[in-house]
Amino acid sequence: MPHLRTLCVYFLVALSPVMTNTMTEDLDVLVFLPQNNSYLFSYERVAPAIRYAQKRLKADGGQYSGFNFNIQFENSDCLYDAFFTLADRSCGQKPDLILGPVCEYEAAAVVRLASHWNIPVISAGALATGFANKNKEYSHLTRIAPPYVKMAETFTAMFEHFSWRSALLVFEDDREQRNCYFTLEGVYHLMSNYNIESYVLTDDKPLDTDELLRSISDMEVVIMCMGAEKIREIMLAAHKRQMTTGKCIFFNVELFNASSYGNGSWKRGDEYDNDARQAYAALNTVTLLRTVKPEFENFSIEMKMPFEKVGLHDCNDCENVNMFVEGFHDALLLYTIALHEAMKNGYSKKNGTEITSRMWNRTFEGIAGQVSIDANGDRNGDFSLMTMINVEAGTYEVVANYFGVNGTFQLLPAFNTEHFTLKGGDKDHPEKTDKSDTPCKCGLGVSALTGVIVGAVLGAVILVAFYFFRKNYRITIERRTHGEECDSGKHRQLREDSIRSNFSAA
Ligand SMILES: *[C@@H]1O[C@H](CO)[C@@H](O)[C@H](O)[C@H]1NC(C)=O
Ligand SMILES: *[C@@H]1O[C@H](CO)[C@@H](O)[C@H](O)[C@H]1NC(C)=O
Ligand SMILES: *[C@@H]1O[C@H](CO)[C@@H](O)[C@H](O)[C@H]1NC(C)=O
Ligand SMILES: *[C@@H]1O[C@H](CO)[C@@H](O)[C@H](O)[C@H]1NC(C)=O
Ligand SMILES: *[C@@H]1O[C@H](CO)[C@@H](O)[C@H](O)[C@H]1NC(C)=O
Ligand SMILES: *[C@@H]1O[C@H](CO)[C@@H](O)[C@H](O)[C@H]1NC(C)=O
Ligand SMILES: *[C@@H]1O[C@H](CO)[C@@H](O)[C@H](O)[C@H]1NC(C)=O
Repeated sequence: MPHLRTLCVYFLVALSPVMTNTMTEDLDVLVFLPQNNSYLFSYERVAPAIRYAQKRLKADGGQYSGFNFNIQFENSDCLYDAFFTLADRSCGQKPDLILGPVCEYEAAAVVRLASHWNIPVISAGALATGFANKNKEYSHLTRIAPPYVKMAETFTAMFEHFSWRSALLVFEDDREQRNCYFTLEGVYHLMSNYNIESYVLTDDKPLDTDELLRSISDMEVVIMCMGAEKIREIMLAAHKRQMTTGKCIFFNVELFNASSYGNGSWKRGDEYDNDARQAYAALNTVTLLRTVKPEFENFSIEMKMPFEKVGLHDCNDCENVNMFVEGFHDALLLYTIALHEAMKNGYSKKNGTEITSRMWNRTFEGIAGQVSIDANGDRNGDFSLMTMINVEAGTYEVVANYFGVNGTFQLLPAFNTEHFTLKGGDKDHPEKTDKSDTPCKCGLGVSALTGVIVGAVLGAVILVAFYFFRKNYRITIERRTHGEECDSGKHRQLREDSIRSNFSAA
């Protein structure tokens, strides 16, 4: 059979009169994105980028223009929607490629099933450390945005460079998307050789700056991930207690190029602005490296146009190109390159293993710059370090860049070593051995483990629920339509169409 298929491909190639190098293939792409615009990766924001990529591939007139993408968008609610939608396709309508979902728990279920079905999945999410294990259940997952553990490399590189040894991880755990939890889990995972402790904020345990600052007192570095307002509150409190004078180095992680996680901006127009400006002189921000190339400008402008036309009101900074928008654009590009190469070598589009392996260990030109996927199918990340360079004016600048592809730091002219030098040497790690003896210093370790367990249990529950659901569902259908539940799927198609009538567009 594979031979016949190959023959068929060669036939089509031979029949294509003008472009001898062009392959022709119809491809079903299933995309999972939330309709809810409160997500940075909502359908409204990301779909234009995928269509932009599709249009460019088609228009190139080159080797990829023979691929016809049939792109279908489905809702993702960051819970079960995507998984159920995919599971409903078990009767012969399996897609050739899945893009998304982004949310960790939802992605886990979808990627497991897709890997089992030999379908490649590319996501600009699924950033948690657990997805790095591609040996089995996540075998077909390619991560087109740098996972959290890649961001953590920036910290290990700095810790090495400045010989820091201890850090307190301060983060907010919303117990839903858990972005900050998973972000600093990456740091915790990568920095097991250092003295790392953690301080978690939850709904049940609101911010108590006194308690927090006591935990900081014997740490050299503080790494924070939480909303911009809480960061300001902490910095103000630290400033009041003179902890911002170099006894401690403060960092915040600005996720996804989104200002909601604190972009280093201290200004609020309130009475604390002056103190905040001085406090933020001690705060350093780690964020995605921003690259600009001519094509990106055009892309950026095109992404803005739909919003200017419609004028969405429920969408904050919708017009900004964030990591997800860029990622899903590049995802279609990467798949196309890998598919083309696989087909040229005689494989079919249905060989997900082969296509997936051709997406890994590869560097290509993405919309914003070079994209490098490591040998494990995860994108290498480039990050910037920003600090306040003018305390009078309170202005920020990028002072160093970290390149994940070669693990090197590039120090820019504005970089000032003094700024990162610890002062007041009385905590030069004398009682280090004492501390490592204390049994309960593994705060995040325990909670990271529970995270994994919760994930596994959740997955199992969903699977069991699904089989029950499926069984009952099948029985009722059999009664009604005399066992044709696996026919061409017309009935189901109709039902699905009516459910998503106001969503699916392509
Ligand atoms: C969108 O999501 C936010 C937060 O996740 C939620 O508060 C809001 O109710 C959702 N909106 C809709 C229309 O579901
Ligand atoms: C940073 O975030 C604040 C709100 O938190 C916003 O007012 C400001 O414009 C943002 N600055 C940049 C440079 O994105
Ligand atoms: C990040 O956001 C800013 C606007 O806030 C935008 O100018 C820039 O291009 C974005 N960078 C990336 C890499 O998405
Ligand atoms: C972007 O580039 C394409 C061709 O490369 C052009 O047709 C389009 O008008 C450009 N868009 C903008 C907003 O400049
Ligand atoms: C898919 O490709 C692999 C090599 O990567 C090969 O071993 C396998 O037989 C192929 N499967 C099919 C169904 O062609
Ligand atoms: C990745 O690709 C390079 C060549 O580009 C090759 O030398 C190396 O062995 C590959 N690594 C893996 C793990 O496949
Ligand atoms: C590392 O990679 C970056 C970006 O590709 C490049 O600019 C830099 O020169 C490289 N550094 C080394 C030491 O190879």
